[in-house]
Amino acid sequence: MSEAILEATQKFAEIIEKQLVRIENMKAQKDFIDYSKLDTIIIGVCGGDGIGPAITKASQKILEYLLKDEVEKGRIAFRQIDGLTIENRVKAGKAIPDDVLEELKACHVILKGPTTTPRAGDPWPNIESANVAMRKELDLFANVRPVKVPEQGIDWTFFRENTEGGYALGSQGIHFNEDLAIDFTVTTKEGSERIARAAFDYAKKNGKTRVTAVTKANVIKTTDGKFLNICKDVAKEYPGIELDDWYIDIMTAKLVDEKRRTQFQVLVLPNLYGDILTDEAAEFQGGVGTAGSANLGKRYAMFEAIHGSAPRMVAEGRDKYADPCSMIRAAVMLLSHIGYADLSEKLEKALDICMYQEKKLIITGRDTGATGEEFAEYVMETIAAL
Ligand code: IPM
Ligand code: MG
Repeated sequence: MSEAILEATQKFAEIIEKQLVRIENMKAQKDFIDYSKLDTIIIGVCGGDGIGPAITKASQKILEYLLKDEVEKGRIAFRQIDGLTIENRVKAGKAIPDDVLEELKACHVILKGPTTTPRAGDPWPNIESANVAMRKELDLFANVRPVKVPEQGIDWTFFRENTEGGYALGSQGIHFNEDLAIDFTVTTKEGSERIARAAFDYAKKNGKTRVTAVTKANVIKTTDGKFLNICKDVAKEYPGIELDDWYIDIMTAKLVDEKRRTQFQVLVLPNLYGDILTDEAAEFQGGVGTAGSANLGKRYAMFEAIHGSAPRMVAEGRDKYADPCSMIRAAVMLLSHIGYADLSEKLEKALDICMYQEKKLIITGRDTGATGEEFAEYVMETIAAL
């Protein structure tokens, strides 16, 4: 075997070893944190890059307004975390600088704006995405993404696996030589079980009757095959909830099929398919700018938009006109996650009124529409009038 092949094999061995450690950690994990038992719930607010700080601030203002009494009582504390910018990440040469990671880990839940993900050809070194790193570092394995269009009968909740798949090793591929590049994807029993259970538990709690697994198990036989088989095993623990299985290609088509798509309720998918399908799904609701997402783990939870940092809007001086609705939706999810279901419902109701019914202010992303700050004020006025 050539030296180069041996070196590549060694890298592969390291990947396997790291995953085995990960599996042991997953096995040792306790149950989900119980927020009701905490004296103070710490909410970290992390603006990110591009339009991130502007839209995060709009959402934070609303959270602070809704949680004012709780903050006064000392039940809730907000912490500002400023260092998660592309400049700082590049300076540290890390997806998340150590000091920022420490600050994140001192919180219970995090409201996070989009962060710029470098790609080849950018002025930045091609470091790992801060999103992907945070999901892995804080073990936020369930990426929950709801999409609703009530008048069309669309009510979907996506459970995207968040710590495995092609993403887990997306920056650890082997560039063997000019001619050959190899990437890896990973599926573990523990990782698949916990996301499948999260999807089924959610279905059970919310009176849903169907969970749909989306893979490409007919072609990606080993990893997707395992994911699907585990979904089938977990399904046996949930009588009364049907599991159906679809391949990602036809699934992207069926989301456009008006008759078929209303039948989907809860969907569970490996990381990459979850990434792709949730962008498509959000488009029916008004685009990725309208969709929030929860990244849940047993100890930490992070709430964010499903879209990127839109650096072009900032370059054109339009960040203050960026749509904060995705981050406000993230706040809706954050509130219900930490036990404030009533405030969460209030905010969701007000946001629906502002976005879809009353529409006194329209966001266009330009100076032809409202600013994110004005929109946040409008949402708060609407809450006050509920
Ligand atoms: C998302 C985003 C991220 C992802 C990017 C920014 C790394 O597209 O949250 O869906 O691919 O997960
Ligand atoms: Mg995405």
